[in-house]
Amino acid sequence: MKSAKGFPIVPRSSALKSLAKFVKNPIPTLMGFLKEHGDTFYMYVGGVQKGLITTNAEVVKSVFQKQHRKFEKSKLQTETVAKYTGKGLLTNTGEDWLRQRRLIQPGFHKEKIEKLMTLMMSVIQPFSEKLAAFPNDKKLNVSELMFELSFEIITRTLISRPIPEEELKEMSQAISDVQGFIVKQVRLPFLAPIFYLTGKVQKNVKRTQKIRKQLLAYVNERRMHPTKDHDLLNMLLESRYEDTGEPMTDERLLDEMLILFIAGHETTANALAWTWYLLDQHPMAVDKIREEAAGFFDEKITLESIRKLEYTGRVVNESMRMYPPAWITDRIALEDTELLSDHLKKGDTVLPFIYGLHRNPAYWPNPDIFDPDRFSPEAIAERPKFAYLPFGAGPRFCIGNNFALIEMQLTIAYLCSKLDFKKSDDQSIEILPMVTLRMDRDLEMYCTPRVEIKN
Ligand code: HEM
Repeated sequence: MKSAKGFPIVPRSSALKSLAKFVKNPIPTLMGFLKEHGDTFYMYVGGVQKGLITTNAEVVKSVFQKQHRKFEKSKLQTETVAKYTGKGLLTNTGEDWLRQRRLIQPGFHKEKIEKLMTLMMSVIQPFSEKLAAFPNDKKLNVSELMFELSFEIITRTLISRPIPEEELKEMSQAISDVQGFIVKQVRLPFLAPIFYLTGKVQKNVKRTQKIRKQLLAYVNERRMHPTKDHDLLNMLLESRYEDTGEPMTDERLLDEMLILFIAGHETTANALAWTWYLLDQHPMAVDKIREEAAGFFDEKITLESIRKLEYTGRVVNESMRMYPPAWITDRIALEDTELLSDHLKKGDTVLPFIYGLHRNPAYWPNPDIFDPDRFSPEAIAERPKFAYLPFGAGPRFCIGNNFALIEMQLTIAYLCSKLDFKKSDDQSIEILPMVTLRMDRDLEMYCTPRVEIKN
């Protein structure tokens, strides 16, 4: 079926027929509709709300860049999620978002990230030693370990000092649980009144309030004992609004800290876990990573030197192509808008389906094959820029993209150079799309220290 003009519509009956499967895992259903209806189509998401699903780089470019002023994030992000997280950059909108983004952006400048690399390594090195100390025949839960690692990195880069393990685990668990609850609310919108009546909403709000209290304790501690550390907390505390010269209120500060925690750890943890999964199947890629990592960590790590981990960067990019942590996002039309051959009405929803975009054969030949050389400078130059969007695009581009890429390059290169990883069984792992793209079961691996060969 076609809409009046433009993109096709998946009949509501087809969407309803696949509802049970869709709620459990929407990706296979969406991939099926793409085959049937082309790279951009309307469907009734969850059988209820009409949305334009797209995996077309031109459409995506128009929404995120060319016509970005005509689109805004949906209430799902700016209200439902914000109810729990507060209005940090990720969930904020309009003028207020722009003011906050201008305030915080300088803190993520490349030179600032350079200073954070020392803090990252102060987590990665002992983490590697911890893995090396496990008995060789003990299966390690790599999925969990990557969560632990990325949570510790974001915490350390925020407040410099280590946090007791129990406290870390409790915070990380609370964030995960609240996210899980948000996903349920999104996929089963008709249960919203039940969630309220049974107190689930309130319980989850309380959990995030507890995290905010903990964050406030770190802020107060820093105020009592100021440091000159180049960490994100000092960056946030020192930042001043251009117009008033004032710092952020505590409320805003906590909103932004919480958002950095949330946006900055689960995404990276999943990308790292998927990278280990792929590397296990491609030992030649591991050899190449080791080659370029040889001697790298003996020298001072700088923005200049990190370029030497070029192949590791390709691997990380290819891993996020196949398994993009942010697998879908949304935008709402703020006014009537032309979009390629179609006409959107004010209030219409567009859903850039990033997982599908990254496997669109028009941009990615043999999309299910792992090939890091898709990210050679020549290959990148030949592809439409908007065919690859792990960090989004346009003004709302991920503020932590350099941070995340460097964190992943350092982690993969360092751990590969120190340890051998082997998956503990031959079973494949499937995708489980939650807020981020998870694995349907934990990745378990054996890990043994490598014998260092000195010439
Ligand atoms: C592999 C890791 C990461 C991935 C795949 C990722 C992905 C994304 C994506 C796709 C968006 C845009 C969402 C949209 O436009 O709808 C985004 C926004 C954001 N990300 Fe990341 N991210 C990652 C790591 C990080 C890290 C490490 C941080 C912080 C340290 C961070 C902080 C943020 C923030 C604050 C935003 C909101 C930006 C704004 O709207 O102004 N992210 N991220």
